[in-house]
Amino acid sequence: MKNIKIELKNHSYDIFIEKGILDKANTYIKKVYNNKNLYIITDDNVSKLYLDKLVEVLSNDFNVKYVVVPHGEESKTIKYYTYVCEELIKMDIRRNELLVALGGGVIGDLTGFVAGTLYRGIPYVGIPTSLLSQMDSSIGGKTGIDFCDRKNILGVFKQPEMVLIDPNTLKTLDNREFNNGMGELIKHGAIGNKDLLLSLVNKPEIDEDIISQSLHVKKRVVELDEFDTGVRMTLNFGHTFGHVIELKYHYKHGEAVAVGMLMALKLGIDLGVTQKECYDVIYNILKAYNLPLDEYDYKEYMLDILGDKKNLAGTINFILLTSLGECTIYKMTEKEIKEKAKCE
Ligand code: GLY
Repeated sequence: MKNIKIELKNHSYDIFIEKGILDKANTYIKKVYNNKNLYIITDDNVSKLYLDKLVEVLSNDFNVKYVVVPHGEESKTIKYYTYVCEELIKMDIRRNELLVALGGGVIGDLTGFVAGTLYRGIPYVGIPTSLLSQMDSSIGGKTGIDFCDRKNILGVFKQPEMVLIDPNTLKTLDNREFNNGMGELIKHGAIGNKDLLLSLVNKPEIDEDIISQSLHVKKRVVELDEFDTGVRMTLNFGHTFGHVIELKYHYKHGEAVAVGMLMALKLGIDLGVTQKECYDVIYNILKAYNLPLDEYDYKEYMLDILGDKKNLAGTINFILLTSLGECTIYKMTEKEIKEKAKCE
């Protein structure tokens, strides 16, 4: 079992990583919650795999109710936000009662947003079941839904009370979904842990130790910058280009991050910021996990980036690697971006 404590100014919480932790989730949740009613939010795919088991386990200590939404991005919308809130209110949920997010990133983001807004905030515990959500969205308190065709545009920072990660849930992911999560894990190695990154070349089992090493990279930056105004931006390595590519060509998120990392590496090399060897090393690791290696010329996408929500008053913060395991925030003005863009 691995335990990581996320220590923030006003709130700290534990992440427990253990094979089989789902089977004893009640004993962990008891550490942070001592009321009786508990509400699981999940989707119709994950519910088939884990809901019965989780309800049985949690019923040893709690009165368990649940809300099931459809799987996929369509549930990260006002429609399902409203639906979940209405169901919870019909069940007479009180503001000191607990939500449990059982599922991948959509469920974590939706549940966290409900938890952050219903009664101005109720507690929640995350049980992420996809590698992608275990690596990223379940940690750090970014919650929200899509709106007006923009991803994650309505949201709040709402930290969980605890996160339980069961590596056994990775066994039920298909290859593409598993590799999708690897996109974020490789990113953590690239920006903050060279040894972790290099170890991935041999495709090790993604066990408690590797998950923990990867999350330590995220822990470091979230603790320094909970509200994403500075160093936390480094987690966006591969995302600036990745978001554009994801929207245009319908990759999965981790796949788009993989392509976006390659584009950012090329940009960094052209700017003289990134050591040339970084590209080949990361390319080979992405290849080992069958992540897309599609070549998009970053210059052709520079203008699209200006519309991104990370565009702060005409400046874009590109996250560039300096060397393997080290990165920097590189600011470019709108003018500099236009100059780099091919069409100008
Ligand atoms: N997914 C990036 C972050 O949590 O800041």
